Amino acid sequence: MPEPSRHAVAPLAELPPGERRLCTVAGRAIGVFNVHGTLVAVQDVCPHELAPVCRGRVGGTTLPSPPGEWRWGREDEILACPWHGWEFDLLTGECLVDDHKRLRRYPVVVEDGVVYVIA
Ligand code: FES
Repeated sequence: MPEPSRHAVAPLAELPPGERRLCTVAGRAIGVFNVHGTLVAVQDVCPHELAPVCRGRVGGTTLPSPPGEWRWGREDEILACPWHGWEFDLLTGECLVDDHKRLRRYPVVVEDGVVYVIA
């Protein structure tokens, strides 16, 4: 397996908070998301049944709450798979419905106004 290397994916100016960029890096489909100013890169493959998860809705989720209350939060931090709606925490890759599943993440660096993914 080759050593991971740095791949330019976008100018930082094209990835403001709330934006995403879908790209192919080292032969892998990857989504790069700006989550409240934090850039994260995840493989565009859902660990459930391999959907292109990075094309899913980014939003919030329901939060733990007492009976009879309904709370919504974590806006712009949660990626919902377009096939069956499983939700993933973009900041950690964790799946909110199955502790044993998670998104594959890749390091992201920004240098001289360019976003790079290391893969
Ligand atoms: S393939 Fe993603 S939730 Fe089923």
